Amino acid sequence: MVTQRLIPGTGVAGLASLLQNEREVFLVCDAAVHKNTPFLYTEGPNCPDRAQNDPVFVHRTDEEGPVVGKNASFCTRDGENGPAVGENGLFCTPVGGEAGLTVGEVLKRALGERFKGEFLFDASEAAKGMSTVVEIERAMMEAGLSRGGLVLSIGGGITTDVGGFAASLYKRGVRFANVPTTLLAMVDAAIGGKTGVNLDGYKNMVGVIRQPEFVYIDDAFLQTLPEREMRCGVAELLKTFLLGDARLYEEAVANLPHVSREHILAAGRIKEAIVADDPFESGRRMILNLGHTFAHAIEKLSDGAVAHGEAVAMGIVLACRLSDRLGVSDGSLEAYVREGFKKAGLPLESPYSVKELSGAMSRDKKAAGEKIKFILLESPGKPVIKELVLSEVIKACGGRASLASR
Ligand SMILES: NC(=O)c1ccc[n+]([C@@H]2O[C@H](COP(=O)([O-])OP(=O)(O)OC[C@H]3O[C@@H](n4cnc5c(N)ncnc54)[C@H](O)[C@@H]3O)[C@@H](O)[C@H]2O)c1
Repeated sequence: MVTQRLIPGTGVAGLASLLQNEREVFLVCDAAVHKNTPFLYTEGPNCPDRAQNDPVFVHRTDEEGPVVGKNASFCTRDGENGPAVGENGLFCTPVGGEAGLTVGEVLKRALGERFKGEFLFDASEAAKGMSTVVEIERAMMEAGLSRGGLVLSIGGGITTDVGGFAASLYKRGVRFANVPTTLLAMVDAAIGGKTGVNLDGYKNMVGVIRQPEFVYIDDAFLQTLPEREMRCGVAELLKTFLLGDARLYEEAVANLPHVSREHILAAGRIKEAIVADDPFESGRRMILNLGHTFAHAIEKLSDGAVAHGEAVAMGIVLACRLSDRLGVSDGSLEAYVREGFKKAGLPLESPYSVKELSGAMSRDKKAAGEKIKFILLESPGKPVIKELVLSEVIKACGGRASLASR
């Protein structure tokens, strides 16, 4: 049974209250978000917890949501211990009335002795391997984390994948929860219970499917997210709407470059519902791999130069081309999707031909003998799974889309 819970964020205070009943918490955190994250600031004068001077959180005040291509900063710190004034003129104070606290320090304040320790690392695909997992196991053991403890991963998809996997191995498995800090992790990686690491250059080769206790989605983190990472998240958000809701896809594209909090949560919930139906990917969950067979091969061949979200965008374009060329869709799908992805500033063209990608695709986890399962679209919101031989795919994907729009 899936015990997952997707929880809209209300800052550090909301997170602390979720952890209220935990006896022990161990933090696995991306070093890039450990310090100076907007998550750690509180906003006045309407801040409900202001009087208590407790770890509380800040919420962004712009209604439009974070912006692709611009970090919508609303709060700048003013001196080491002083208050800060946001761009919107609102008064902001750092959590606890003090500046310079890290996520770990704030959690320690909130949890006291129940905060057992932390493991920080610089998230990268190179660091997403067994050696980091072993380091985390050792840190948890040295901190004395018991079997009843909870591992809290705060970071992007690399952190939630590694933290969840490390938790799943420690003492034969302790519980874990995710606080995603990238858009990609908020709508995808942190949800659904897939955890794991890379092996010998092959992505996510080792891992388990095990559901988090909760996924806490707070878009305050996105204010510091680099533009390229934000775009990568948009690729997964649009993917989810292409699979699950044609109307939301249209809405999200129309809203670009803004990405609304509501759309982030809606995408997370679509993924949550798909996973709830099929947690171990024996059927319907596979649709979440739209574009991913191509994407994994592109990432592999580019040796990391193409980011996951960028590769997914290129892969979805190819999957739409395949849908059009095989007569699964009406022939205008690729052009339609290109238009939306272009507005999102996403790359559309794979640097490799499908023929060049085929070697890596045949080693993909989804490959079964000669045939590979591809996710195609009849139309936005209507995915289908097709088992295809690679020669068929190579033949169908040659050339570019017609530029005819819907
Ligand atoms: N488990 C799943 O179901 C699933 C699904 C999709 C992707 N993934 C995995 O997720 C990974 C990609 O995730 P990602 O794109 O979140 O990458 P990531 O974790 O590497 O984060 C991207 C970069 O942004 C930085 N960062 C994170 N949050 C930040 C913030 N708030 N402000 C500033 N910088 C921040 C990180 O340090 C990193 O440099 C891949 O390894 C992929 O395999 C897993």
